[in-house]
Amino acid sequence: MSLPNPTITYKAWAYKNCYSPIRIVNETIELVKNPRGEGYIAPRGKILIKIYYASLNPVDYKTYETKPAILGWLNSKQGFGRDFAGEVLSIGESTATNVQIGDFVQGLYAPWFDKGSCAEYLLLDPKNSPITTKPRNIDFAEASSFPLVLGTAIQMYARGGIKLANSKVLVIGAGTSVGRYAVQLARNGGAKEVVTTNSPRTADLIQSLGATSQIDYRKNPNLLQPVLESVKSSGQFDYIIDCWGGDDLFAEINTIIRKGGVYNTIVGDAPGTGLAALLGGIRSISRTIGSKLGLLNYKYELMLLDFNAGWIDEARDMIADGKLKVFIDSVWPFDQLNDAIEKLESGTAQGKVVLEVSRPNTGAESVKQFPPNPFK
Ligand SMILES: NC(=O)c1ccc[n+]([C@@H]2O[C@H](COP(=O)([O-])OP(=O)(O)OC[C@H]3O[C@@H](n4cnc5c(N)ncnc54)[C@H](OP(=O)(O)O)[C@@H]3O)[C@@H](O)[C@H]2O)c1
Repeated sequence: MSLPNPTITYKAWAYKNCYSPIRIVNETIELVKNPRGEGYIAPRGKILIKIYYASLNPVDYKTYETKPAILGWLNSKQGFGRDFAGEVLSIGESTATNVQIGDFVQGLYAPWFDKGSCAEYLLLDPKNSPITTKPRNIDFAEASSFPLVLGTAIQMYARGGIKLANSKVLVIGAGTSVGRYAVQLARNGGAKEVVTTNSPRTADLIQSLGATSQIDYRKNPNLLQPVLESVKSSGQFDYIIDCWGGDDLFAEINTIIRKGGVYNTIVGDAPGTGLAALLGGIRSISRTIGSKLGLLNYKYELMLLDFNAGWIDEARDMIADGKLKVFIDSVWPFDQLNDAIEKLESGTAQGKVVLEVSRPNTGAESVKQFPPNPFK
């Protein structure tokens, strides 16, 4: 599709650095002349998306909190958000992609020091920003909610040679958005025992997703004893999938995990930000190096989602096949991003916090009503 003007001017959420507020700014995208006819199209290799929904992740806020002032000099409008769902408006010449103009899509915007998905439009390069067509059985808000967290859960099992069939798995932080997928993937993969840590408020839900036994992290601020009890009653763990962080288990780790087992964490020894998290991160990186050098009895990795590992189509297919349940905590109007961030930061979100950028005019399939929607 050709667009009538060479410049798109639109609203986006952005900030200068960690000392300045996250606010709505005017942004622009420059298009190029359509070489095959009238009007303007996306630049070579790029896809132009109209965003309908964007979902928030803790990493968006952690990135904001840790962006030093110097970055504000390089780019005074650093965008907020990675996950998005929307519609393809234009595709530039020589763009390697499976999506087409008019497709409904969801994906993950990659560049960290550039724009963000909490915006009316995005111009992305599919070589580094994964994008795929939206499953028909979910709406746009749900579509925006899964790329980063489901992609992360998929990769937590893909790395380290994990074979789930008949295994015993511990999912730390099963109530997190990543953890909810990690539990479902363990169940779908044929794990025989899935032990989880979560609070009582999500106990029934986590059981319905596949947990065979649960540890209440509120009653057990240190997980070591309840995990050792599980080992005593049904043997060592094959895999530990840590979606919350912490170092409780390392005091007796060789008793807890079998030789050659896998411990993958996406947070490391200390959740949160600040000095404790930094020191925890250093310990986790040292352990990751120790594991790569073969110094540990088990495989350990502090892992980051690899945006380009090809998981987005796998994630889309699992959802389209009805094999995974998607969770939304709340949907917030575009101008209430800061309230939505507060909800995310409270650590009480029951699934994803989503920003409604604009409502698609595409029929009932595209917009469901969510009970906790705060502006209905
Ligand atoms: N390395 C990577 O590539 C990567 C990728 C994605 C996310 N992450 C990180 O992974 C973490 C989880 O992200 P998310 O978006 O999935 O989280 P989220 O959805 O915001 O998690 C919220 C949930 O965390 C649970 N929780 C709170 N305190 C807990 C505790 N002490 N122990 C266990 N669970 C607790 C609560 O569930 P209950 O109902 O059980 O209380 C709450 O509902 C974040 O630190 C994020 O930055 C890293």
